[in-house]
Formats: sequence, structure tokens, C-alpha cells
Amino acid sequence: MDPLLPLRGPEISVIVPTFNERENVVELTERIGASLRDFAWEIIYVDDDSPDGTAELVRQLAAKDSRIRCVQRMGRRGLSSACVEGMLASSAPYLAVIDGDLQHDERLLPQMLSELKHGDVDVVVGSRYTQGGGTGDWGAARIRLSKFGTRLSRTLVPDTLTDPMSGFFMVRRQSFEAAVRKLSAIGTKILMDLFASSPQPLRFKELPYSFRLRQAGDSKLDSATKWEYGMLLLDKMFGHIVPVRFVAFCIVGALGVAVHFSILTLLFQIEHAGFLQGQATATIVTMTFNFALNNVLTYRDKRLRGMRWLRGWLSFNIACSLGACMNVGLATYLNEATGTRYLAALAGITVGAVWNYAVTKRLTWSRA
Ligand code: GDD
Ligand code: MN
Repeated sequence: MDPLLPLRGPEISVIVPTFNERENVVELTERIGASLRDFAWEIIYVDDDSPDGTAELVRQLAAKDSRIRCVQRMGRRGLSSACVEGMLASSAPYLAVIDGDLQHDERLLPQMLSELKHGDVDVVVGSRYTQGGGTGDWGAARIRLSKFGTRLSRTLVPDTLTDPMSGFFMVRRQSFEAAVRKLSAIGTKILMDLFASSPQPLRFKELPYSFRLRQAGDSKLDSATKWEYGMLLLDKMFGHIVPVRFVAFCIVGALGVAVHFSILTLLFQIEHAGFLQGQATATIVTMTFNFALNNVLTYRDKRLRGMRWLRGWLSFNIACSLGACMNVGLATYLNEATGTRYLAALAGITVGAVWNYAVTKRLTWSRA
């Protein structure tokens, strides 16, 4: 055989999203390789520029074995979007997604593959809640949360799918491609996103597995994960009507109004500040509050840090100051022209909010 003849591409790509999983990738790579030894496989690690050097280690493994690849993303975060980019980087007919911390059972991979190849299903899901599966060492609170999340998703996924919150599955490439442009890719629940975004109902099968204990590193999921899940649900339900980021921006804005009035009250009653001084202080604090909260919630995937945070804060304040001028200007004009005070105020607020959103989206969080 011609030694320069290119080898065929892999049959199965295993996508592994990672953030600070340096201590787990060698072991995981060995285990996946062992369980898929009878197949032409590849592993695509999608790492969000982990400070612990996960990507560097993956590239060292890749230098020794061409079946291992690394996609390194910068200035961006997100479990679901990492999975999507990994799948897009693959040309294999079958795509699997598995966590990088050894909590999912990689020994299921060959069976998942054979179900897809020989069965009439589009997706095979590793499930904790079907007969024989389990949640390992999870406490009651986390199990309740997982079940609650599952209940909320019911309008979007089939009733018979026991574990739509699972992050462990294998899908046919055609099914992924049919859905990919509709995916929200918000937060962590990529499987649910896939079911909810698919133009045709996905035929699926669940295989039981027991969620393992994390041996090394820490979980990345925190309270913002719940918020992101809420945003994913909203996007799936109403995203075709209004952008979910705008909804998030307005929720933060409404919280900002509460903050503003609390500060005003505080300054007037306790500090006996004058109106201008009070209003000016409250405005600056509120804008900072809104910026910081939008940065961790609305734009969590593009979160600004360090110097970029400062620059972002500045551009946010400038944009929103202009927004406030437009708000007050328009409301004053409408009030004088029509005499409907509350409607005039509402129109001013709406125009201000849309302006603030549209401008800061491009100016403050433009990166990526
Ligand atoms: N690229 C990238 N970017 N990877 C991420 C990010 C991110 O922002 N956040 C987390 N990951 C990676 C982690 O490194 C790990 O490999 C995997 O995604 C899961 O993250 P964990 O932080 O370990 O999550 P978990 O154990 O609480 O929950 C997981 O299991 C659930 C139950 O099956 C997640 O996979 C959930 O999606 C899943 O439902
Ligand atoms: Mn985990």
C-alpha cells in the first residue's frame, strides 16, 4: 500500500468538553480507546482555554496519536456550545458526547454505537433514571434539582425520555446536522436542546448507567447554571418571538430599578443627600450593578475579566447614558404632545431598553 495514501476518517467521534480537566484526560483517553478498540474512533477535546493547561496536555497526547484532537476556544465559555463546535469539527457518521471527568461510563460506547448502526434509532442516551441506572453519590438536593429540571423540560422533550438532563449520548450525524442551526447552545443541557430543536421527532433508546464519583478536579456547575437552564427553556419556547438575551437584559434592568430606588431611599433618609447628588450616585451604582450582572448572566459565555471588564464598564456606562437621554427626551416629548404620562414613560423606557441592549451587545460584549 502507498504509505502516503490517506487513511479513512473515523467512524465515531467522541466529543469531550473540558474546563480544567488536566488530571482526567490521560485516564479518560485510555479508557475510551480501550472500550472502542474494535472501531475506528477519534476523540475531540473542546477546551475553553483552561488555566490548568488541559489543552496543552491534549496536544501532547495528539502528537503521539492522530486519533486525538484538540479544539481550543478563547474568550468563550459554555458546555453546550463546546459540544456543538466539537461535533462540527468532526466528519464521522456517529457522534458521541461524554464528560471529561470520568463521571460517565465510557464502557457504554460500543453498545451505543451498535444500537445506532443496527437499530432504528437516531440517538442513544446514557440514562441515570431508567431501570439499572443511578445517580451515584448525589445528595437528595441535587437529585431533586435534576428531577425538577426534567419536569420543566417536559413540554419540549418526549415523555418517555427518562433522562433529558443527561450529558452522555451518541447521535447520528444526519440528526445532528438537521438540528444544528436551530440549537440554542445555551448552558449545559445539550441533549435537551437537541431533542427540542430537531425538525423531526428523534427516535431514541436509553441505556442505563450509574453516574460516577468525580475523582479529580471540581464541578463547574454553579447557581448560574440554573439561570442558564431557564434561559434555554425560554429560548426554546419563545426564542422565535424575542431574543432570549434581550429578555435577560430586561430582567437585569428591572432588578436595576429596584437597586436604584433602594439607594435613593438610603441616601435621602440616612445621609440626607440632596436630590442631584442622590440621583447621580444611585445612577452610577445602578449602571455598575447592571453591567456586572449582565456580564455574569446575560453574557456569561462572553464574560469580560480584568482590563476588559473595566473597558466594558466604561462603554456600558456611555451607551446607557445615551439611552437614558433618549428615554427621558422621548417621554417628555410624548407627555407634552399627548398628555398620557404613564404611556409616555413606558415608551421612553422601551426605547431606552432596546437602545441599551442593541448598543451594548455590539460595543461592550462584541468579542466572539
Ligand atoms: N469546554 C467547556 N466549557 N467544558 C465545560 C464547561 C465550559 O464552560 N463547563 C463544564 N465543562 C466540562 C467539564 O470539564 C466536564 O468535562 C463536563 O463539562 C461536565 O462538567 P461538570 O462541571 O463535571 O458537570 P456535572 O458533573 O455537575 O454535570 C454533568 O453531568 C450531568 C448529568 O449527566 C454535565 O455533563 C451535565 O450536562 C449532565 O447533565
Ligand atoms: Mn462532572
